[in-house]
Amino acid sequence: MHKKSNFTVLPYGAIFFDMELKDKVVVITGASKGLGRELAQTFTKEGAKVVISARSEKELQEVAEELGALAIAADVTKENDVESLARDVVREYGRIDIWINNAGAWIPHGPIEELDMKRVHDMMEVNLFGTMYGSRVALIQMRKQNGGMIINILSTSALEGRSGSSGYCASKYAAVGFTKSLRKETKDSGITVISIYPGGMQTNLFDEEKPEDIDKYMQPSFVVERIVQNLQQREPKEELIIRRPSK
Ligand SMILES: NC(=O)c1ccc[n+]([C@@H]2O[C@H](COP(=O)([O-])OP(=O)(O)OC[C@H]3O[C@@H](n4cnc5c(N)ncnc54)[C@H](OP(=O)(O)O)[C@@H]3O)[C@@H](O)[C@H]2O)c1
Repeated sequence: MHKKSNFTVLPYGAIFFDMELKDKVVVITGASKGLGRELAQTFTKEGAKVVISARSEKELQEVAEELGALAIAADVTKENDVESLARDVVREYGRIDIWINNAGAWIPHGPIEELDMKRVHDMMEVNLFGTMYGSRVALIQMRKQNGGMIINILSTSALEGRSGSSGYCASKYAAVGFTKSLRKETKDSGITVISIYPGGMQTNLFDEEKPEDIDKYMQPSFVVERIVQNLQQREPKEELIIRRPSK
């Protein structure tokens, strides 16, 4: 086994991420709040060079200052924004080790025939196209580096259909199809693609309409712990489902 830049090259060609997060360049979209913010906090504590992104510049800047991260605003539904985010990161740090497509949107539950399709389209733009744009720019850079890791935040809603949540489920199922294909296209390239399927978390995602049992949902810090534990395995699971522990 020999070392190739920051990644460990195993004899049979698969390359897995070193458990050492220190000095890794990590980009996290949707990191001004919720799961993304919690991921940013943990990665900065581990000594990674963390770039956080979201649309709201002021909020992002405040979080960046608090965590010691770099803030670069971008709307993931705008391909130009995402391309310039990647360019700025490479200009600043010279590489991208981990790119986390975390930015996400949700709409309140409702029967299919009553869904506001404009809102479904907008959600699809974030949950599917945002993930595709982010993965593409990360991949282009990681191919040049011969290594890296793309982590896509999906949902347990992408494992089973849910009554009242057809639009959100569809957007996440679509992102699953994309992510599985991305993994196949990057096989043996040194680029690892990880899918994370969290269950319900207590975040701002539900600001518009809180689920009745939200107090039973997981804290994002619990989910981040599981994500980081997985990364620290010698062979991280490429598909990680994180549900609330049963009592
Ligand atoms: N909460 C849950 O129960 C749950 C369960 C499973 C999966 N997830 C997934 O986990 C991820 C994180 O969600 P969360 O619960 O942490 O949500 P959250 O608290 O609402 O945070 C969402 C983040 O995404 C950013 N964002 C939204 N639209 C964006 C856009 N177009 N471009 C760039 N950034 C955008 C927001 O900042 P700005 O508004 O400033 O852009 C914010 O930083 C999402 O992919 C979500 O689908 C959540």
